[in-house]
Amino acid sequence: KNIAILMGGYSSEYQISLKSGNVVYQHLNREIYNLFRVHIFPDKWVYVDDNEAEFPVDKHDFSISPKGEKINFDAVFIAIHGSPGEDGYIQAYLDLLNIPHTSCGFYQAALTFNKRDCLSVLKAYGIPCAASFYINKGDIINTSYIVAKVGLPCFVKANKAGSSFGVSKVHKEEDLPRAIEYSFKEDDEIIIESFLDGTEVSVGVIQYRGETMVLPVTEIVSENDFFDYNAKYLGQSQEITPARLSAEMTAKVSEIAKKVYDILKLKGFSRSEYIIVNDIPHLLEINTIPGLTTESILPQQAGVAGISLKELFNNAVEEALK
Ligand code: DAL
Ligand code: MG
Repeated sequence: KNIAILMGGYSSEYQISLKSGNVVYQHLNREIYNLFRVHIFPDKWVYVDDNEAEFPVDKHDFSISPKGEKINFDAVFIAIHGSPGEDGYIQAYLDLLNIPHTSCGFYQAALTFNKRDCLSVLKAYGIPCAASFYINKGDIINTSYIVAKVGLPCFVKANKAGSSFGVSKVHKEEDLPRAIEYSFKEDDEIIIESFLDGTEVSVGVIQYRGETMVLPVTEIVSENDFFDYNAKYLGQSQEITPARLSAEMTAKVSEIAKKVYDILKLKGFSRSEYIIVNDIPHLLEINTIPGLTTESILPQQAGVAGISLKELFNNAVEEALK
């Protein structure tokens, strides 16, 4: 079987995606699969061979012809964080071409990548979330009104972004305009949320051998003001798996993560984030293409559950091919 591993993307997260994609490439089973790394960038979609030579992708049928002979893919492993791999575009494109992929459906990807819309839906299902306020580019900004709604400190986030790009924690009302300006660099919609003072946890849920499986919970202790880019990628945080929670709390947050996965009818990988305040987990967001590097949270959780990277990734392809 020919398997394409998609990496890169159009967003600030492209470098993390290249790392995730290459880790997937190194671990998929070459005895069963022919593996092809495919870079998806705004100016080029190319197959990259082991000598780093590039061959264009034919977007009409998502095929490549590196030696003149056409190669079609039997399945696609999507390792693109952010657009167009985590927001539904690639999923919709592959669905139209009838090419199976490792991700959830296009609508689920689009919804979960939009923090505002996803949280609004899940709130209506009774999932606790932070108090929030939304603004779009061009809106008149009344900082005292925002502070009255969400309090201080608060988080200003780009609505559709990942890896903490466009996120700031704001302590003073006068710092709000600058934080808002910063978020608008990533997206033209912004979500401002109350700061929740509690324990941050991350819960992986995957489809594993035909079943939905909740992985061991990870507790996140950031050395910075919050779990920002440096805390995530430059080691300025501790990620503790399993989390130091009571058995009841572990069960509670795992149950919520499974419920969210089921409500939204997710497939493949997912990792949702919560802050536990007064024994209540509050949902922050869901990542449907979570980081897949050796140091990333979901692969660590799988490891604690006894699932190696090889097994994790090969299972994802097997599930996609079913
Ligand atoms: N958005 C990053 C890659 C993550 O969720 O792990
Ligand atoms: Mg994220």
